Amino acid sequence: MNMSKIRPADTGRTFRVVGLPGDGIGPEVYQSACRVLGVMEQLYGLTVELDEQLIGGAAVDAAGAPLPAETIEACKNADAALLGAVGGPKWDGNPAEMRPELGLLKIRAEFNLFCNLRPIVTHPALHSFSPLRPDRLENVDLMIVRELTGGSYFGKKWRDHDQAEDVCRYTREEVERVTRSAGRIAQQRDGRITLVDKANVLETSRLWRSVVGQVIAEEFPDVALENMYVDAAAMHLLTRPADFDVMLTENLFGDILSDEASMLCGSLGLLPSASLNENRFGLYEPVHGSAPDIAGQGKANPYAMLLSVAMMLRYSLDCADEAAALEKCIHACWNEGILTRDLRVDGCSTSEVTDAVCGQLAALSP
Ligand code: IPM
Ligand code: MG
Repeated sequence: MNMSKIRPADTGRTFRVVGLPGDGIGPEVYQSACRVLGVMEQLYGLTVELDEQLIGGAAVDAAGAPLPAETIEACKNADAALLGAVGGPKWDGNPAEMRPELGLLKIRAEFNLFCNLRPIVTHPALHSFSPLRPDRLENVDLMIVRELTGGSYFGKKWRDHDQAEDVCRYTREEVERVTRSAGRIAQQRDGRITLVDKANVLETSRLWRSVVGQVIAEEFPDVALENMYVDAAAMHLLTRPADFDVMLTENLFGDILSDEASMLCGSLGLLPSASLNENRFGLYEPVHGSAPDIAGQGKANPYAMLLSVAMMLRYSLDCADEAAALEKCIHACWNEGILTRDLRVDGCSTSEVTDAVCGQLAALSP
């Protein structure tokens, strides 16, 4: 971003975003986001000040920690953070506190990013890339609301030679706050929540059922709530995905179901996410990982990252119109078959997709 250019007089349109390129294909898709944001600045009179910081393996190498204090400080002064990806085989043998993934878990915990949104929306131009039958993909538009700062990811952990334990713990308050987020989202959609749990076996799931039931009944009487066991949900996601509206679930179930659901859209490379706290700050990142096998080759699919930029514009920067315009341009590219190699053998490169999206933006220009 050109920080020296003359800013528009309306300072309400100036935003600070921490850029976290990370590892593997992270820097490539991040670069794509920077270019698209640059074009949007010009076209829509926004100023996005990108402050690039370290996270993940890159941070372990350069600063000796997966989430350096400087990165945390930068995020404290920002409206949002935009993350590429973390992880790679280079750091697989590292001790737990020096693993790239810890950078991600720490930033989620540090900023209380308890509400993870993963929209699953199919598009007719991509139906043929899904392993599912096209008739099952019609009208799929579901929002996974994954609790992101509790459960077995953050419970007490230990291991000795013969045993290991990851404690799955949830408090009433943790369940209440994410339920309220899901309730508000459902009210803006079709007004239906499916709570996914394993209440036939797990005590934490029984707490979830009771708390979610109470919050929805008392505070969201216009929202319909259904309960579903996670094993059944995994199946119904494949047999009747169009029936879901909002799927609310705990951390680990949400991790697994969102990767499964990505196949409805055709590729994991198409799925964006937003991780939000109770203020407006959010961390935006593609759901896909660092894909070290294709890193540095210009093959990465940037759409998940660009859709994450759209979510950032909508949820943290209050630029809903710009978000919609970017999504429209991305869909136009899909209609023209501008796809990367995860979808087509003769597919485009990362920068060709980025060029095409920028071109669509310019053509749509207000
Ligand atoms: C995700 C990822 C992370 C998670 C990993 C990288 C720690 O799989 O965001 O879904 O499990 O939450
Ligand atoms: Mg995951």
